[in-house]
Amino acid sequence: MITISNIRQFNFESVPIDPFWNTGVQKEQKMHRIHAYPAKFPAFITTKALEYTQNSIGLQPERIADIFCGCGTTAFEAKRNSIDFWGCDINSVATLIAKAKSRKYQSGRIQNYFNKIVTAYDETSIADTYDHAPERLKYWYSQKQYNQLAHLKTIILKNTPANSDYRLFFLCAFSNILKPTSKWLTKSIKPQVDPDKRPAKVVDVLKKQYQFMLKANEEIEYLGDTITDIVTGSFLDDSWDIPAIDMIITSPPYVTSYEYADLHQLSSLWLEYVDDYRDLRNGTIGSLHHDYNFNKELKRLNSTGLKIVTHLLDQHKSKARSVAKYFLDMQSVAQKSFSILNKKGVALFVIGNTEYKNVRIDNAKHLSEALFEAGFAEVSVTKRKISNKILTPYRDKRGKFTSNSNGRKVYSEEFIIIGRKNI
Ligand SMILES: C[S@@+](CC[C@H](N)C(=O)[O-])C[C@H]1O[C@@H](n2cnc3c(N)ncnc32)[C@H](O)[C@@H]1O
Repeated sequence: MITISNIRQFNFESVPIDPFWNTGVQKEQKMHRIHAYPAKFPAFITTKALEYTQNSIGLQPERIADIFCGCGTTAFEAKRNSIDFWGCDINSVATLIAKAKSRKYQSGRIQNYFNKIVTAYDETSIADTYDHAPERLKYWYSQKQYNQLAHLKTIILKNTPANSDYRLFFLCAFSNILKPTSKWLTKSIKPQVDPDKRPAKVVDVLKKQYQFMLKANEEIEYLGDTITDIVTGSFLDDSWDIPAIDMIITSPPYVTSYEYADLHQLSSLWLEYVDDYRDLRNGTIGSLHHDYNFNKELKRLNSTGLKIVTHLLDQHKSKARSVAKYFLDMQSVAQKSFSILNKKGVALFVIGNTEYKNVRIDNAKHLSEALFEAGFAEVSVTKRKISNKILTPYRDKRGKFTSNSNGRKVYSEEFIIIGRKNI
């Protein structure tokens, strides 16, 4: 970790990679893989973060928070380490997975519910409800696949107790089979139909999903009976009653990254979180709203943000606007992070840089400056390698990793930034 003494002159590119943060010691628990989630960070980041703060700062947190909790990587690891957890994410699909993940189920009860669901699925006739399906779902499913999934969803709701952990478990399973059973191009992180795809059979893929989740649950050796509180909404929303936090461990959304909302449209529509999946973009960090006065807001940017946005303005005005909004939101995130931390609190962010039209979007530097401005007494930084991007440093038009340099450059490194409220 390098402690930053002069943020304006600090060069993030020269920070060496610290192998401590590259890989974990233990194999990742299967529970982390019960549902696909983009931009999930490796579980060992949480373990390393706890190890680092204990050894180097002498802090043993009693409650940690992940303010962009995604699919609950930090939440589950907190529970494994018997630490209370508070987390939020604006995306209901993320919080569904995070909640389903951070508990241990009774295997016998899961099996009973599964048997009831499969029997009811086979024994009741499948209604044809395709005509009433949301148009966007008709786009992704054939009539047959749609009707089978609608049938399955009704049966899950009928056969699991409302508001129970077990309903969450099966809704999470349902959510994760929605892509393989649709026309969604396999493994694509962009919404794209594959006209040649033969979607998986609903019952087959449900059984596989169930088997995996059952094994994941059985693999858990220990979970503390600590409090895990996960809420759906924006971290920047003022109405949260957030308990005092000792440590934040989080990875913010990337500035020029793909739209999370688009990626979760199948689950969001099936689970009726929204009528129009585009509504999911509202309130996400960096999303623009109609009363955003660019020229006025520009004045609130910190010096790193202003430099980058000014540079971008020459190339692409609309991109400059959205990057500016992202930076402003991240400045608010830094302030709010400061306010929810205890006196000795620590905030750890995993953040990568991006590039747009040859302009480097130095998120790490911008966030570090924002942390200083928010009042953090010390900010230190180190760099880690992202293993799956080593050989495939680009993304193609469909968003797939590629080694073809015509694609968009993806950095194979990211920064760990640690802010200490007091030293
Ligand atoms: C990089 S991902 C976090 C992934 C997470 N570490 C995990 O392992 O799953 C960033 C997350 O920020 C969420 N997000 C975006 N804007 C938000 C906001 N205003 N408040 C809370 N969460 C937000 C996105 O939905 C996304 O899940």
